[in-house]
Amino acid sequence: MRVLGIETSCDETAVAVYDTERGLLANQIHSQTAVHARFGGVVPELAARDHVLKLPQLLRAALADADCSLAEIDAVGYTQGPGLQGALMTGAAFAKGLAAARGWPTIGVHHLEGHILAPLLDRPSPEFPFLALLVSGGHTQLIAVQGLGEYALLGESIDDAVGEAFDKSAKLMGLGYPGGAALSDLAQQGRGDAIAFPRPMTDRPGLDFSFSGLKTAVSLAIAQGQPHADVAASFEQAVIDTLVVKITRALNQTGFTRLVLAGGVAANRPLRARLAALMAARGGAAFYPPTALCTDNAAMIALVAALRLANQDRDADTTFSVRPRWPLTELS
Ligand code: KG4
Ligand code: ZN
Repeated sequence: MRVLGIETSCDETAVAVYDTERGLLANQIHSQTAVHARFGGVVPELAARDHVLKLPQLLRAALADADCSLAEIDAVGYTQGPGLQGALMTGAAFAKGLAAARGWPTIGVHHLEGHILAPLLDRPSPEFPFLALLVSGGHTQLIAVQGLGEYALLGESIDDAVGEAFDKSAKLMGLGYPGGAALSDLAQQGRGDAIAFPRPMTDRPGLDFSFSGLKTAVSLAIAQGQPHADVAASFEQAVIDTLVVKITRALNQTGFTRLVLAGGVAANRPLRARLAALMAARGGAAFYPPTALCTDNAAMIALVAALRLANQDRDADTTFSVRPRWPLTELS
């Protein structure tokens, strides 16, 4: 079985080909960062227009990488939500159009289920159950993953996502947008204990996060004239400490011994190192898929579509709707 995946939920256009026997055959991604950078954030209308432009060429490139034709594809999965409505519509329409022409079944995939299961594309892949920490520009969630389609949200950010906090702090330091990686680079030249930033919500029970106060503390430190490298290092340290406290709590609560890190912030090296040490000390294991599978991609969408199809799960008809707001818990 060979499945095409289409991802257009935000500012990455992606097309992938996944084969249930041979694995991932193509993983084409086009990032729109250059389109949105001068606006300091994603402009939904521009995102949708760029997806429409790029989808056909990415499909051609993906088929070339996979060395196959449309005739050898059996089904198509597309990101149905959550995400930007106009952006989601472009991918859904593209997938439904192809499917109508080729007679394929279609599978509307939940973007976050894609992120959670993306590590299954890597080797060694984690066995169920595991704790997933999803940290991206739009999400900060701790999820108990019992099996395919069995997800319980244990905690999430009540305001800014981790990546958003990185990006907003980076912007305050003039590091451009999205500046998460640049902030982390700068942090290497600073001292993580230079400024005592708060570890938000660690002093009370529960698994929710809050990162908007940290951004305010960063702006204050900058106004006070603290060296940017120290601000960056102390900020990063505060974020990592906070995540470690909540992850430890979640592991104790669930008894899980495996941790999966997903989302764009999973590219953060100090975070990976801390979590690897944490899991090793607990006699467990941490799983970090390669960055290309952590950030938005269509490989994870094709994978979920293939898994769901194997469970006889597919769209009921050829009409389509997207779900810009779609709680993950509705899947269970
Ligand atoms: O999952 P992702 O590609 O897509 C969105 O959620 O949009 O995540 C992107 C986020 C951005 O906020 C970016 O600044 C952050 O991941 N990011 C990082 C690093 N690399 C990317 N944050 C901290 N350290 C990094 N090395
Ligand atoms: Zn994403």
